[in-house]
Amino acid sequence: MDIFSKAEAAVTYVRQRARVVPGLGIILGSGLGGFASQVQDAVVIPYAEIPHFPQSTVVGHSGKLVLGLIAGVPVAVMQGRVHAYEGYSMDQVTFPARVLGLLGCSRLIVTNAAGGIRADIAPGSLMLISDHINLTGQNAALGPNEERFACIPGAGQRFFDMTTAYSPRLRKLAQAEAARQGNTLIEGVYIAVLGPSYETPAEIRAFRTLGADMVGMSTVHEVIVARHMGLEVLGLSLVTNLAAGVSGEVIHHEEVMDIGRRVEVQFTSLLVALIPQVAAG
Ligand code: HPA
Repeated sequence: MDIFSKAEAAVTYVRQRARVVPGLGIILGSGLGGFASQVQDAVVIPYAEIPHFPQSTVVGHSGKLVLGLIAGVPVAVMQGRVHAYEGYSMDQVTFPARVLGLLGCSRLIVTNAAGGIRADIAPGSLMLISDHINLTGQNAALGPNEERFACIPGAGQRFFDMTTAYSPRLRKLAQAEAARQGNTLIEGVYIAVLGPSYETPAEIRAFRTLGADMVGMSTVHEVIVARHMGLEVLGLSLVTNLAAGVSGEVIHHEEVMDIGRRVEVQFTSLLVALIPQVAAG
C-alpha cells in the first residue's frame, strides 16, 4: 500500500473515533507531553490503535493522539513522536504529520527538546525556531512525489520552497504573546542531526560556525512534509541542556525530561494564549 493510502486509512479511523475536525496540529516533543492535558472534551487514541501509525520506543514519548478543543479551537495533539534514530524510515517519521494535514490541519505547531549551542541560552529557555539546517542526511520528501498530499491549492509539488518554512506571521504572534506574558522568546536556527548519540564538542563548534543556535534529533522532517502539504508552521524548542562542550557537563536524557516539567507552566500559558491567534487569520 502506498503512503498516501496508508495515511488515508489512518485518517478514516481517526474520524470514526473523534467528531472534531482539527484545524491546528500540535506535535509535542520530549518532556512536553503534559501539555496534552489542556485538551477539553478529549478523545485519546493510542498510536497503537491507528492503522499504520509508528510507535515510539523512547522513554518520555507516550504515543497518543489527543483530539478536542484548546481555548475553543479544534486541535489534534500528538503526544510523542518517532525519530529516525529509532530505525524508522522517513515515511514513518513523517506519517503523523501527513495524517494531521489530511485530517484538516492547515497549521502545525512543532515542539522539541534541544541542546543550546550558544553559551548565553540557559537551560530551561524556550526558543522560537526561525529556520533549520537539516544535517540528518535524509530528506523527508524523498521518493516518488505524491501530489495528493496537497492541503492547499498549489502545494504537493516535487520541488517546494523552504524560505518561509517557519511562518514569519506565526513567529511575530509568538514573540508578541511571549512579551505580553513578560518573557523574551529568542529566535534561533535549529540544526537537526540523526542521533541517537549526543554530539561531540568538535561537532558543536562546527555547528556554531555553520550558524546553528540549538541542536536536536527531530522536527525538520515533519516541517519538510508540512511545507510540502502547504501547512503554516510554528516551531518551538525547549533548551534542556547546553550542547556538548559548551559547559563541559555530561548530557543525560533524564535532565532533558526534567527541564520539560520545570517549564511546563510557561510553555502551557504561551501555547494556550497563542492557539486562538494561530488558528485565526
Ligand atoms: N543534542 C541533541 N539533541 C538534544 C540535545 C542535545 O544536546 N538535548 C536535547 N535533545
